[in-house]
Parts: sequence; C-alpha cells; structure tokens
Amino acid sequence: MNAQPAQLLDTRGRPLRDLRISVTDRCNFRCLYCMPKTVFGRDYPFLPRQELLSFEEITRIARLFVAQGVTKVRLTGGEPLLRHRVEQLIEMLAAIPGLELTLTTNGSILAKKAQTLKDAGLHRVTVSLDALDDATFRRMNDVDFPVAQVLEGIEAAGKVGLAPVKINMVVKRGTNDEAIVPLAEHFRGSGHIVRFIEFMDVGSSNDWKMDEVLPSRDVIRRIDAVFPLEAIDPNYSGEVAQRWRYKDGAGEIGVISSVTRAFCSTCTRLRLSTEGKLYTCLFADHGHDLRALVRGGSTDQEISDRIGAIWRTRDDRYSEIRTAETAARRKIEMSYIGG
Ligand code: GTP
Ligand code: 5AD
Ligand code: SF4
Ligand code: SF4
Repeated sequence: MNAQPAQLLDTRGRPLRDLRISVTDRCNFRCLYCMPKTVFGRDYPFLPRQELLSFEEITRIARLFVAQGVTKVRLTGGEPLLRHRVEQLIEMLAAIPGLELTLTTNGSILAKKAQTLKDAGLHRVTVSLDALDDATFRRMNDVDFPVAQVLEGIEAAGKVGLAPVKINMVVKRGTNDEAIVPLAEHFRGSGHIVRFIEFMDVGSSNDWKMDEVLPSRDVIRRIDAVFPLEAIDPNYSGEVAQRWRYKDGAGEIGVISSVTRAFCSTCTRLRLSTEGKLYTCLFADHGHDLRALVRGGSTDQEISDRIGAIWRTRDDRYSEIRTAETAARRKIEMSYIGG
C-alpha cells in the first residue's frame, strides 16, 4: 500500500508546494534586467541539446515531486515556448492528477500557440510585459520586438481560457516607471491581473542598483492617485504578490516586493534547471544534480529520498538578508533558472 508521506518541511518549517521547471535557457528577447546583450551576446554558451532533461525525465521527476506534496508546477525558461514541442511536455504533465499547471512567457509567440497550449492541458499563463508604448517596450526587450504582438498573445490566451491571465511588469526606476499607470489603465476591467515586480538583483549580469528599485508602495501610490485602490487578502498563504483592488470594481492588481518586503518566511518553491539541477532559492549559487541520479539508474525511491533530504536541510532566505555585499556575489542567472 502507498502511504501518504508525512509533510515535508525545511529547517524553517516551510512546506514544499511549488516546482518551477525551466525548459530552456534560451530566449528571443534580451531584457535589460535579465539577459543584457553585453553578457548574452552571439557567442554565449547556451546549453547543448544533450544536456537538457528530456520530457520523460522531467515528467518522472515531476511525479516524484507531486508525491512529496507539490501541487503547482510552473514552466519557465528562458522562453519556454521556444522549447521544441513543449505542448507535448504539457500533455504529459497535465496527466498527473492534482496538479495546477502554469507557464510564464514573454508572449512573443503566444497568439499562435494559445489554443494548442490550452488543448494540451495548460491551466493558466503569466505574460511578461514591461510597457505599453511601443518605443519603451522595444527598449526593454532590446531586440526591437513590437508590443502589439504580445498584446495579441494576451488577448488570445484570455479567449481560449488560459485565465485569469497574469501580466508581470518589472519596474526599473528611470527606465520604464512611466509605464506603470498606463499599463494599469489598459488592463482595468479586462479580467487580466497586472503585477508590478520590484527590480531584483538576480544573477550577476544585470548591473542591479538599489537606486533603480521603485518600492511597491510607490507603485501603489501612483496608481491609487488616479484609480483608488484598497488592499485585499491573499488567495492562499504564501502568495508572492500582495493583492489590491480598484474601489470602483474594475478588478485587481498585485505587487511583488522581493526587495522592500521579503516573503522568504513563506517560500514554498523549488526550481529545476533545464539540465536537471535543483535550486532551493532564486539567489542560489549552486544546485543539486538530479540528472545524474536519473541517468545513473537510481530508483524512484532513491530520487525521492534525495529530494526529501535537500528540502529538509533547506535554509534559504536571501531576500531577508540582502545587502550590497550579497547583491554583488556571483549567483545563477534568471534566464537559466526561470522567474
Ligand atoms: P501565481 O500566483 O500562481 O500566479 O504565481 P506567482 O505569484 O508565483 O507568480 P509568478 O510565478 O509569475 O512570479 C512572479 C514573479 O515574482 C517572478 O517572475 C519573480 O520575479 C518573482 N518571484 C517568484 N517567486 C519568487 C521567489 O521565490 N523569490 C523571489 N525573490 N522572487 C520571486
Ligand atoms: N527582477 C525582477 N523580475 C525579473 N524577472 C526577470 N528578471 C528579473 C529581475 N531582475 C521576471 C520577469 C519575468 C520573469 C521570467 O522573471 O518579469 O516575468
Ligand atoms: Fe527572456 Fe524573460 Fe529574461 Fe526577458 S525576462 S530576457 S523574456 S527570459
Ligand atoms: Fe524563496 Fe529565496 Fe525568493 Fe526568499 S529569496 S522567497 S527563499 S526563492
């Protein structure tokens, strides 16, 4: 008989709930805060194909995680829709009972893919969108990609029922903060939920400076001055975004304040890289090699035991202890581990 395992808790008493799986380290954008061209140029050594976990390997690992208490899987990248036949992986993951399956994308090919993603069994999408005006958007993605195509992708996702669509805007003070109110206004009443994210010191390439972080309280102040807001309760304990709603009933927005109001105390997330390394924090500098176990003939029980041991000894709380010194340390890149 398969007894339900006791709930897995880390050293700070946090349960394991979310697994974020990066399916490619490549992206067709070069967002200034994530993959600056100076670092991610033509010669950048992306992972060769044989290094990537196969769909079978990913699905096997995901099943073992679900048996350990994971209830949500998010596919990330790089840009996950660039992974060849990703719909097939979605179909395989969607067959795992009791799993919420979501994906974070830059939206560039979402209009084309929304229906097949939905048909494959994806539940929701989150789309990154850093400005509404075309010139600012093109400057942020740094590959001259037009905003209209991403807006079409968001539309299409809503239409096929990948809803509610969440829209992530990374706010960089002095670069795109003028886009906050227009973005909020555009999506008011649409049923889509915009979340404003504080620019974070992930990775070692994005030249992060505290001066360029616009605190979420200022984001709220700016929107509230035009469209009055009130705070609302989280959907679930440990929700990353703090929720606000428009007093006139035009929907809700969120703010993600990793810099000014850390949420490590309720962090239930693990991240699996494209090549099968497990990271216990977005700001980690090393991962645990699960691929070696999977390809080395380990049994399900052996892999599960390893996962359990990794989570039980987890102690991360980077955003609570961030300093100028930690920010300058070498860390894994967001494009490698996913958002
Ligand atoms: P849903 O509520 O299911 O939509 O997911 P979510 O709130 O976790 O949102 P999402 O996965 O889209 O995460 C939004 C953004 O929050 C990410 O792109 C990151 O920038 C940031 N984020 C998510 N998880 C973490 C985390 O564990 N630590 C930190 N510091 N930031 C995070
Ligand atoms: N700070 C905050 N969020 C970031 N993302 C990528 N880099 C950063 C950063 N430096 C977010 C983007 C995207 C997701 C993949 O990660 O908004 O939605
Ligand atoms: Fe690509 Fe997303 Fe990073 Fe932008 S934030 S470069 S879209 S992975
Ligand atoms: Fe979790 Fe690390 Fe983010 Fe804190 S900084 S919320 S521990 S991933």
